[in-house]
Amino acid sequence: MSVPVLTIDGPSGSGKGTVARLLAQRLGWHLLDSGALYRIAALAAQRRDVDLNDAAGVAELAAHLNVRFVGEDETCVLLDGEDVSLLIRSEQAGEAASVVAAHPVVRDALLDFQRRFAQAPGLVADGRDMGTVVFPDAQVKIYLDASAEVRGERRYKQLNEKGLGANLAQIIHDIRRRDERDMQRPVAPLKAADDAHRIETSFLTVEQVLTECLTLMGV
Ligand code: DC
Repeated sequence: MSVPVLTIDGPSGSGKGTVARLLAQRLGWHLLDSGALYRIAALAAQRRDVDLNDAAGVAELAAHLNVRFVGEDETCVLLDGEDVSLLIRSEQAGEAASVVAAHPVVRDALLDFQRRFAQAPGLVADGRDMGTVVFPDAQVKIYLDASAEVRGERRYKQLNEKGLGANLAQIIHDIRRRDERDMQRPVAPLKAADDAHRIETSFLTVEQVLTECLTLMGV
């Protein structure tokens, strides 16, 4: 019997990271933060002086990444045994991830690795193309969205809480630019799967979004 998969896609700041983590906790399922993989591929490239625009070079690194997600909720990220969880969360790391994620060969290099996260009793997969490309047969697909302003404010709060300084206007500008790159790329662009349930989260609390997701899953 195939392992149940719940996909949560959407732009950065739509709340998918938080919602995916909490849903995985409530369901007792595994969690795949696919964005972290692109962030790590970019970090690995920068550390080895591989240009982010060198698609083949980054893909080679991505294919051999030594990454593990550990901790109770599988949110602590180890690269070659080093905890890079905080390092990969900066805006700069997100920007670099978006650049390497636009290379089709890099996406191919990470495909099987991502699919192997579908382990019993189930998987919550968070990303941009979880429902469209990586897990097209997922039982439930959700697409979270919110305005660029609301997403910028959420990001701004998150960064401040982590002690990473930020400028709100700049963040909103960067979010718009990143959306454009993620949505316009020819391979696996950010878009809702035809069979995804769309939830506009701008005026919802995290708890309200969770309730809606669980209802969609029949829980
Ligand atoms: O979700 P995130 O902000 O951690 O993602 C960082 C970047 O990685 C994002 O700008 C686009 C890319 N990404 C992707 O192309 N496909 C995914 N499944 C997840 C992330």
